[in-house]
Amino acid sequence: TTVQYLDYEVVADRGWDLHDDDLFGKAAIADLPPEAYGRLLVEPEETLLEAAENRGFVWPFSCRGGACANCAVYLVEGELSQPVNHIMPEELSDAGFRLSCNGYPASDELKVVFNVKHLPELDDLIL
Ligand code: FES
Repeated sequence: TTVQYLDYEVVADRGWDLHDDDLFGKAAIADLPPEAYGRLLVEPEETLLEAAENRGFVWPFSCRGGACANCAVYLVEGELSQPVNHIMPEELSDAGFRLSCNGYPASDELKVVFNVKHLPELDDLIL
């Protein structure tokens, strides 16, 4: 699975809207460093977080067990499984938030905004 990723910090800093249909189009022409925006390949046995780490990126996490939400990402396109979730309420899952620490890509292409733990919706959950 090929994943296009974007750091939420960039979205917040630039005043972009997470729900903007052209969010990744804007990122593509914004001359962002590879740690903030780019593509990575996720192997079948890797979770999204492991794939990012195995390619040398540092994405937020804490428990690695579905219990803290520090690793949350927002799905712009595609699907990421969520086998273990002890923290995320159904409304947030329905709204497209997933935990990268145990989520495996379930589509050929994925677009995710990582580092969304500072979003007001998630801030309250973080342990
Ligand atoms: Fe804690 Fe993913 S790192 S839920």
